[in-house]
Order: sequence, then C-alpha cells, then structure tokens
Amino acid sequence: MKVPMNDLRLQHAALQPQMEAALAQVVADCSFILGPSVSAFEQAFAAYCGADHCVGVSNGTDALKLVLRVAGVGPGHEVITTPHTFAATVEAICELGARPVLADIEARHFTIDPAQVAELITPRTRALLPVHIYGHPADMDPLLELATKHDLALIEDAAQAQGARYKGRLAGSIGLAGCFSFYPGKNLGAYGDAGGITTSDGALAEKLRLLRNHGQDPARKFFYQEPGYNHRMDGLQGAVLGVKLPHLDQWNQRRRQVAQRYCQALEGVEELILPAEAEYAHHVYHLFVVRALDRDRLAAALKQVGIDTAVQYPHPLHLTAGYASLGYRQGSLPQCEQACAQILSLPMFPELADAQVDYVADHIRLYYRG
Ligand SMILES: Cc1ncc(COP(=O)(O)O)c(C=O)c1O
Repeated sequence: MKVPMNDLRLQHAALQPQMEAALAQVVADCSFILGPSVSAFEQAFAAYCGADHCVGVSNGTDALKLVLRVAGVGPGHEVITTPHTFAATVEAICELGARPVLADIEARHFTIDPAQVAELITPRTRALLPVHIYGHPADMDPLLELATKHDLALIEDAAQAQGARYKGRLAGSIGLAGCFSFYPGKNLGAYGDAGGITTSDGALAEKLRLLRNHGQDPARKFFYQEPGYNHRMDGLQGAVLGVKLPHLDQWNQRRRQVAQRYCQALEGVEELILPAEAEYAHHVYHLFVVRALDRDRLAAALKQVGIDTAVQYPHPLHLTAGYASLGYRQGSLPQCEQACAQILSLPMFPELADAQVDYVADHIRLYYRG
C-alpha cells in the first residue's frame, strides 16, 4: 500500500465542478487581482474566525510582514517568537529590520513557552509573535497578559491553524491580528500562494488594505498615502478559497478522527511520544507529529513499505547559516533542539482512509517489535 503525506488531487476531485465554475467566473469577469471573489472570501473568513475584518494578501509571509509593519516594528526593536516554526516567522521580523528574540518551546505541544517569553521582554520589545504550530494553539492567556502589561502587540502566526481554537476562541481572533497562509497544503489551501490577516481593529485593517496595494488611496487612483507593497491576493485564489471554506470544519473534524485513530492504534508503543492536546486547545492537526529517538531509522523503515513521512523541521532555525548572526549556539534553546532531532510527521490529510492509517500504525508497531 502507498501512503503519501498528502494528496491534493483527492480534494480537488471532490470539488471539481464547483471549483471550475468559480474559476470560470473570475476569468469571465477578468477580475484577476482582488475583486469580488477576494472580497467575498474576506467577509466569509472574518466571520468564520470571529473577527471583524479579513484582509486578503499574497501569502502568509507577507501577512506577517504587513502586520509587523503596521504594529510599528522596525530597526532597533525586538520581537519575541519561537525557533520551532517555518522560517517565514523569523524572516518577517528580520525583513522589518528588527531583531527576532527566540523563546524556547514547551516540549509537549511544541508551542512557545510563556514563562520564557516573560524573561526576554526588554524596553526594546515591540511585539510577541507566537505560532500555533502544527495546528495546536499556543497558550495565549499568559501571552495576552504580558502584552497588556508591557504594551506589546500580540500577533498570531496562524499559518498552520485554520479552525484551531484556544479556550473556544478561533485562531486569528485572539491577538491584535492573526496571520494565515493558504499555501496549497494547509488545512485551507489555495491553488497557489495566498494569505490573509484577521483582526477586529478597524483602523489596522484599513491600513493593511492600503499597504497591500502600494499605499494607494482607495478613493484616489495613483495617489499614494505612503510607500506600500504589492501584497494583493489574486482573484482566482479568492475563488478557490471561497469554494473550500464551507468544508473546512468537516475536513478538520476528519483530521481529528485520523489523529484519534493513530493515537488509539499506537497507544502503549513506549518508543514513541504521541502528540498531545492541551486542555485549552482544539487541535486541527495540520501535521501529526510524533517523537522517536530513532526517528531516521523509523522513517527509512516506513519508506520501504510505501509510507511517506516528513520532518518539519529538521534544523533548529537558530542553528542554520541564515540565522547564525542572531548569536545562538547549540544548547541555547534545548527543547527546540531536542524536538528537531526526534520529530517525525506521519501522513495526515482529511482524505486519508482508515485502512491507510491502520497500515501506518501496524508498520510502526512491527518496526518496534521486529
Ligand atoms: C508557521 C508558518 N508561518 C508562516 C508561513 C508562511 O506562509 P507562506 O508560505 O504562505 O508565505 C508558513 C507557511 O508554511 C508557516 O507554516
């Protein structure tokens, strides 16, 4: 049996007639950049997240950059974030000329440890940027408390967490703003690059809309309020996301079923640590990440029987060449470093069949018994 990490063709096949009609409409209208499909998706996604506004942008990285800029982050400032993330989180801070300050993670959930964040706040800190990694929300209440106490912007990197909840609140509706990626493999994925920002701060949303479109005054074409960017969402991506959004909860529910099936089948395998869901969390399992001391050998054994796995991410960000100048060393962030050496992502997507989940679990059990 073949078990891929993901298979986007299955999702497309299930939606094909609707999707083709929605894409054809954008083409017929020639509304290729922003336009009605993007506006409709923005409204629907804001409502879904329980935020007043959503601003559609070009990708998740640009979402982060725009929000950091509007939050006033710039040279001489520090932004506290996690090393256990995709590079874009840290890259966005560097792009603004600010310094990323890395707080280690909580080992159980791979999310930023609020106690460490508290220790890293200085007069130069302007923002906190937790990541809801793998679809599990960061512990937001202590971070909200710190942000209020020190007058900091709390920005959620919700790129991997569409539909995740913290104490009942949707990811993207908790901090000042939530930054989403709609990269094709995400829980809600476009057919190319796309991103979005949710916020209930009207002035912030207005500024984001201005800056994503070169700073152009919406009422005066070619009149610029300030230098901005080309960070607009394409009309075709708005249409794709509009077709997919009504299915998100059902897809996330299936991801949770798959996770539960893995956990039941793998319970008692002492060599593995299974993913945990904090009592405050509604996890949406963008990834299903286990820990194993012999991760690489396990991955190789699974590959031999047709099972794909992945490591997200193998290199602690602070130990990669691109971020050496931040001055961290081996041992600086031990929880993240240990996690990177042990984590393994098993196949996870809504269309995964129970028989495939069982096949993966059976082969993991066989590997450890062998
Ligand atoms: C945690 C996290 N932040 C930011 C991003 C950046 O999003 P994009 O690839 O849409 O620029 C990603 C995408 O993979 C991500 O996983």
